[in-house]
Amino acid sequence: MKIIGISGSPRARGNTEILVHEALKAASEMDAETEFISLVGKNIKPCNGCGTCYTEKSKGICAIKDDDLPGIYEVMRQSDGIIIGSPVYFLSVTAQLKALFDRSVILRYAKGMPADRPGVSGGPEFLLKNKVGGAIAVGGGRDGGQLFTINSILQWMLTQSMIVVGNNFAMGGSAMAGMKGDVVKDEIGMAMAKHVGLRVAEVAGKI
Ligand SMILES: Cc1cc2nc3c(=O)[nH]c(=O)nc-3n(C[C@H](O)[C@H](O)[C@H](O)COP(=O)(O)O)c2cc1C
Repeated sequence: MKIIGISGSPRARGNTEILVHEALKAASEMDAETEFISLVGKNIKPCNGCGTCYTEKSKGICAIKDDDLPGIYEVMRQSDGIIIGSPVYFLSVTAQLKALFDRSVILRYAKGMPADRPGVSGGPEFLLKNKVGGAIAVGGGRDGGQLFTINSILQWMLTQSMIVVGNNFAMGGSAMAGMKGDVVKDEIGMAMAKHVGLRVAEVAGKI
């Protein structure tokens, strides 16, 4: 079983990275092989709406080929569970993570148009289908939009036909920290992140 953790923060060694590592550590203690992916410094272009992914012409490959997203999607495809963490940026995920979400349309259309589900946009087999997903968010404010951000991540996962889990606390890992590295002082936030890792590994293991 392979569980990957993606940190959507553009800040290296920041709070999101710490939380995602905490979740992965817990997953590895449940015998999962883990891999950490940081979006720091990655070349991630936004979706340009060309629509190639909606056609057979795409052959499962996004028309934007010259950045880091295709490689990240490949690692996601090889995984059994995906943990995504983001700092709260204006009550939602970072622009880098949103671009990853938007361009992941290709993971829904990769095998062509559906024949059996009229009116449903997406190919017959979504490539992230049945992977287990969990979400983590950290904001500088106590009620700074962590839940909205967790919701955005979980809703993206549902749209990919993934199986979403909470974390034995609530809907996901919610932490509060503003300055770089301060999240280690948020005992509850750290525990919530750990339990995202435990839940994702538990359910992925059962599957
Ligand atoms: C552009 C920007 C927008 C932010 N918006 C919010 C916000 O809406 N709510 C909040 O609680 N914190 C907000 N923050 C604070 C970050 O979420 C917080 O500092 C977080 O710990 C950063 O995580 P990182 O160290 O992984 O980058 C914002 C920070 C930045 C840079």
